[in-house]
Amino acid sequence: MPRHVVIFGASGDLTRRKLVPALASLQQKGQLDDVHVVGVSRREKSDEAWRAELREAVPDALKAGFDALAPRIGYHAADVTDAADAAGLKAHLDALPGGAEAGRLHYLSLKPSLFAPAVETLCGVGLLHSREDETVACRRVVVEKPFGHDLASAQTLNAELHEHLREAQIYRIDHYLGKETVQNLLGFRFHNAIFEPLWNRHHVELVQITVAEDLGVGGGRGRYYDGSGAVRDMLQNHMLQILALVAMEPPVSLEAEAVRSQKVEVLRALHLPDAIDVAQSSVRARYAAGQVRGEAVPGYLEEEGVPAGSTTETYVAVRAEIDSWRWRGVPFLLRHGKRLPKKFTEVQIQFRTPPLQLFNRPEGMSAAELRRKLEDGSLCQIRPNVLTLSIQPREAIHLSFGVKRPGPQMVMARAGLDFDYESVFAQGTPPAYERLLNDALVGDATLFLRADEIEASWRFADALREGWEAPGAPPLREYPAGSWGPEQAEALFHGCEGTWSHG
Ligand code: BG6
Repeated sequence: MPRHVVIFGASGDLTRRKLVPALASLQQKGQLDDVHVVGVSRREKSDEAWRAELREAVPDALKAGFDALAPRIGYHAADVTDAADAAGLKAHLDALPGGAEAGRLHYLSLKPSLFAPAVETLCGVGLLHSREDETVACRRVVVEKPFGHDLASAQTLNAELHEHLREAQIYRIDHYLGKETVQNLLGFRFHNAIFEPLWNRHHVELVQITVAEDLGVGGGRGRYYDGSGAVRDMLQNHMLQILALVAMEPPVSLEAEAVRSQKVEVLRALHLPDAIDVAQSSVRARYAAGQVRGEAVPGYLEEEGVPAGSTTETYVAVRAEIDSWRWRGVPFLLRHGKRLPKKFTEVQIQFRTPPLQLFNRPEGMSAAELRRKLEDGSLCQIRPNVLTLSIQPREAIHLSFGVKRPGPQMVMARAGLDFDYESVFAQGTPPAYERLLNDALVGDATLFLRADEIEASWRFADALREGWEAPGAPPLREYPAGSWGPEQAEALFHGCEGTWSHG
């Protein structure tokens, strides 16, 4: 039975840069032979003109896939909030191979303010009705981010969608979940029994999650970004999803509900900081002019579209806590910034040190002195065991440990074990959108966000942002573009030894 993919927001950047290349790649792998794609946007355009526009944006390596799909790509001009237009679209889709019996994936690559009105209009003309068991003629809706801008708006949007759709029909995207290395967090934790006994407060001293970017908000993104900021744009979604995968309890199966239920439990267990916690456990900042890789770049306030007097943060560092039996007392240090020296995403699990330091006593220091210095913090014990899960651009895992340096003395040196996707599998990992589009087409919602996950994440993000509005809030600091952010972020390690990773 043929399937239909309907892209609303066909003229948009996401369609050209991500969705169509992902479809071309799936076609190249022979997974879309039964799929018809319809782009919907308000502007009048012929099928040929749209195909030509798309083809140009498809990378050379995927042109063959695109050309195979192209005869099944069409365009339909419609205003998605207009009932007559939606009825016309329904007639158009019903006339495609498979007609009304075809399964349909409606991809809302629209302005967020249009998500609810679009669903209401499409539902009004019967485009979204499907049988509960979805065995034929499934009707699924993919919703892009941002999903709300705080808890209240996310709850409203969920309620509006639920008026017309069952939860099982809604696929809320977080493209980080489409990344192989993010999915591997699940695989690595729950396929390797050796780490599980250590994966808790008894053995883990702290967890560090970094999403660093070297880009700023140039290229016309300033206006959009200024209404968002680092917390809403990255922390509430991508970073808390990574945290959930690192900290969740084992699911009983890989079914969507099993995995998502465990993730939501962790997100609900995130300690909601009050104003005092926020003052002590978060740092916010924005970039000033500086240099990234030797090139001079403007500060945030000079970027196009950023209003004068903006107080939007482009950097956030926070020490989060999870109030659960497994994690109580273990700091989860989260950091994201734009215009840092380089782009990398990484999770570090730092294990506790041995209870006694038998090795590496500085020459001439007595055992008693060593003990005193370790206790008063003027000397630190070397952290031998850190598990680093590199998400991007390097896709790798590194486990560090200490080994005896050859020689007459018992001196321990750092060593490590390394795994790298590229050298082991000799192939790149598929882009996130490819995996996610395919999953939505086959009806696997595991890597999409459930309503309650989104709401739990907003609860944490809102608490943080409310703390920033309160008296005594941490000030908005500045950091030169190309630096590692404000030095005050180092203080978030208090009580633990460690420092922010530089990737
Ligand atoms: C998006 C944010 O969700 O993720 C952007 O809106 C950010 O600001 C991007 O740059 C990062 O995605 P990736 O996959 O390049 O790490």
